[in-house]
Amino acid sequence: SQKDEHYLIGVSQCSEDEWRTQMNKEITREALFYPQAEVKIKTAKDDNRKQIEDIKEFIREGVDLLVVAPNEADAIAPIIEEVFDAGIPVVLVDRKIHSEKYTAYVGADNYEIGKRVGTYIANRLRGKGQIVEITGLKGSTPAVERHRGMMESLAETPDIKIIATADAKWFQQDAEKAVDSILPQHKQIDLIFAQNDRMAIGAYRSAARQGKTKDIAFVGIDAVWSEGYGVDRVAAGELDATFIYPTGGDRVIQVAMAILQGKPYVRDTNLSTALVNRSNARIMQMQTEHILQLDQKIEILDNQLDAYFLRYSAQRMFLYACIII
Ligand code: FRU
Repeated sequence: SQKDEHYLIGVSQCSEDEWRTQMNKEITREALFYPQAEVKIKTAKDDNRKQIEDIKEFIREGVDLLVVAPNEADAIAPIIEEVFDAGIPVVLVDRKIHSEKYTAYVGADNYEIGKRVGTYIANRLRGKGQIVEITGLKGSTPAVERHRGMMESLAETPDIKIIATADAKWFQQDAEKAVDSILPQHKQIDLIFAQNDRMAIGAYRSAARQGKTKDIAFVGIDAVWSEGYGVDRVAAGELDATFIYPTGGDRVIQVAMAILQGKPYVRDTNLSTALVNRSNARIMQMQTEHILQLDQKIEILDNQLDAYFLRYSAQRMFLYACIII
């Protein structure tokens, strides 16, 4: 019956960073609206082997549904297919696998984001210039798709040339190191596109150390709005622009619960993106600040409800005891 429903949802995250922290918070909060749902989150810290272990552990723990952001597509696909074949629904988030063995996907269209980045670069440089691309982890699908999308739109502007690329695996430090060696090798660099903000910040820091930030525009992706991250850096004038890579944790839980409760759901949910530049960065921060306050109120309400229920059941026990006596 409805009353006995209990669903264990296992969330296997590939990494641990501000973007995923945001998503995990949304997941946990949305789950508050489904008393039948219990969510467990594990983080593989960018290690394929750890992620496979995490997923195996989830199977042993008897999860009813697996949510997974696969670190690298080919390495994680076999265990995901195993889960799917065992009849456990799989919701892919943010990163994908090259297989149809999944129940639903929730995330942005990274190819589309790449295309928008390309168009932005073409406009920003008025169709001519030298750029550097810092890519994310090669085996992860967003890295491949963002690059493909960007190349697709830059095909229309042959005077924009990619003069250097480096794989910084989504990490700030790796990007900083890569740009340390790229910058001295080239006289003219007009723009550095890094496939996420963390790497864009790393690139900026390297350029700052070399006294070269003035002539270079730095573009990233993610637009995490909290202090010190993407949107903040755009507002501060360090990054030229970034694109929202929506975390969508609430949608993840809504889709997961629809699957578990046999309700209709969309197989591929494409979350949308938007450009953040100097003209809207502050507004975005103000609005998200406001949303954060509302989020906190929801959590306070939830705690209060728990306290009320505790008191209520204590009083009821007391009442029963009185009647029996
Ligand atoms: C977070 C992250 C983001 C990036 C995404 C790609 O873990 O590295 O910065 O946009 O993953 O999957």
